[in-house]
Amino acid sequence: MTTLSFVHRFEPAREPGHAPLLLLHGTGADETDLLPLGRMIAPGAALLSPRGKVLEGGAPRFFSRLAEGVFDHEDVRFRADELAAFITEVRAAYDLAAPIAVGFSNGANIAAAVLYRQPEALAGAVLLRAMVPLPETPADLTAKDVLLLSGAMDPIVPAENSTRLARLLTEAGAAVEHRNLPAGHGLSQADVTLAKAWLAAHGN
Ligand code: MLT
Repeated sequence: MTTLSFVHRFEPAREPGHAPLLLLHGTGADETDLLPLGRMIAPGAALLSPRGKVLEGGAPRFFSRLAEGVFDHEDVRFRADELAAFITEVRAAYDLAAPIAVGFSNGANIAAAVLYRQPEALAGAVLLRAMVPLPETPADLTAKDVLLLSGAMDPIVPAENSTRLARLLTEAGAAVEHRNLPAGHGLSQADVTLAKAWLAAHGN
């Protein structure tokens, strides 16, 4: 499906009453990558999965970086706003409620950037291996629910960084649950179990 502003996949809800999931892949993956995860953690929900528009040596991403973990902040801002505009577009096209973002790695970082700049675009977020996306203070996040799952042995995201992200989101008003898992940067079974339980506990 390529007629809207991002190449994406859309799977309609199988049951009423679930918020749609906005699935945001990591570097080098595409719009198909997180569909199985979405089906596992929210079996009845609509799934919306765009492909990042930035190419790094051919690998799709959601924004440019200068080096691993060093972000091009101007591009992060531009791309976060572009993704928020896409959310508005797809909600109208498919008649959807505001989605819960489920992002992994680079996808978690762009989801965090959307929370910083346009929190109204999202009903909440599951951030898997996220980092602080921008140097400024986040927008008002009152009543936003966020699950942040970090890897205690993650070589890309230092514990200080994910702890700071949790603190910044909390100070902005979000209800943040932050767990440090015995994992690296890759996803583990615990991520699936915790994300599914968190979504269920938040009405999904
Ligand atoms: C990023 O660039 O968003 C982070 O370094 C995560 C990654 O994509 O490896």
